[in-house]
Amino acid sequence: MEKTFVMIKPDGVQRGLIGEIVARFETKGYKLAGAKLMNISNTLASVHYGEHEGKPFYPGLVKFITSGPVFAMVWEGENVIAGARQMMGKTNPQEALPSTIRGDFGLSVGKNLIHGSDSPESAVREIGLFFNDSELVDYQKVNEKWLY
Ligand code: PPS
Repeated sequence: MEKTFVMIKPDGVQRGLIGEIVARFETKGYKLAGAKLMNISNTLASVHYGEHEGKPFYPGLVKFITSGPVFAMVWEGENVIAGARQMMGKTNPQEALPSTIRGDFGLSVGKNLIHGSDSPESAVREIGLFFNDSELVDYQKVNEKWLY
């Protein structure tokens, strides 16, 4: 089953949105495979966002993502990489549709609440950056036969 990396950014944690966001993924039917509250070091931030180094927003992005704890998660399910991105909405919350996480809770691109892997390759890379194998849990959920 496909897995993706999803992270509630420091603004989402500070605004008390962890429960709301986790509930959306759970009620959609995705399965939580790992989760932790953690601080991101400058080194981890620069590796995670390495492809954006040199862009005008990069210094602010690294400063923001290291400014407080994030809630890192791995979610599992059919087509979860694209599905999670749909639930998040467009990068700029002002363009994100209502009923998406950014559309419902965000106002600016610099504080857009949530990150999700954008491809199978980034999902594998990002899960490996944030989680050890021992932190990911493989289990059966009773509702699985009602989802697929
Ligand atoms: S790009 O240039 O199209 O590849 O960038 P994009 O995919 O839109 O965004 C890459 C990440 O940078 C964040 N971002 C910003 N942060 C702060 N300020 C500004 N102006 C800004 N623009 C983009 C954006 O949220 C992406 O981070 P993640 O964590 O992937 O959402």
